[in-house]
Amino acid sequence: MKGIILAGGMGKRLYPLTKVTNKHLLPVYNKPMIYYPIECLVKAGITDILLVAGGKNAGDFLRLLGNGADFGLKHINFAYQEGEGGIADALKLAEYFAAGDKICVILGDNIIQGNIISVVEEYEKQESGAMILLKEVEYPQRFGVPVFDEDGKIAGIEEKPENPSSKYAVTGIYFYDSRVFEIIKTLKPSDRGELEITDVNNRYLEWNELEYRFLSGWWTDAGTFSSLKAAGNLVAETGANNVS
Ligand code: G1P
Repeated sequence: MKGIILAGGMGKRLYPLTKVTNKHLLPVYNKPMIYYPIECLVKAGITDILLVAGGKNAGDFLRLLGNGADFGLKHINFAYQEGEGGIADALKLAEYFAAGDKICVILGDNIIQGNIISVVEEYEKQESGAMILLKEVEYPQRFGVPVFDEDGKIAGIEEKPENPSSKYAVTGIYFYDSRVFEIIKTLKPSDRGELEITDVNNRYLEWNELEYRFLSGWWTDAGTFSSLKAAGNLVAETGANNVS
């Protein structure tokens, strides 16, 4: 399985921290934010990685990461997202890299306490379709939120609903087969002018091909002042990407 880290966007919610640098290069406790999703993939055995960067400071990713020696890698692939087209727009750039293989996609500002090895193994066995990871959160309004039917199956995913119908967030760790790129080509920009990853997941759902699992350990994004602070505190307390 190949890994794709999405680290584009302008980080507007963190302005002025992001005035002269990319959000994913900001510190989270003792490491730059982008280190955490890379470690997450590598510790799950995914070492063939594409990083999609964006913004005015994309060159700094290369300066920081080089060929990935800090992570035991020999090579990291890079792509560049123009503008702010959203997560699904950034993912579009990974089509040539994926080359028909299954992919694990992680957002560059998502950090987890534990590891995803078992889910990676499960998804390897899943014949086709997608898999998402859910986590109970205090403010689901900030995220993609699953709507469950009576049988506990996901009936739909709502992006940043005012009145969330469950207490779960769809985390920024997604597993897709190669059809994801065909789906993205059919998407229309949302009200915030972006190609939404939630629309991708809802398409798999329409096909009855969206699996989900609950993520264990803490999970956080780090794209707002409060979540950036929380992320730093969580990492300081327990460390991130713990294998056991
Ligand atoms: C994005 C997705 C959202 C998901 C979240 C996870 O939100 O759109 O569905 O729950 O990442 O971090 P954004 O960070 O673009 O607001």
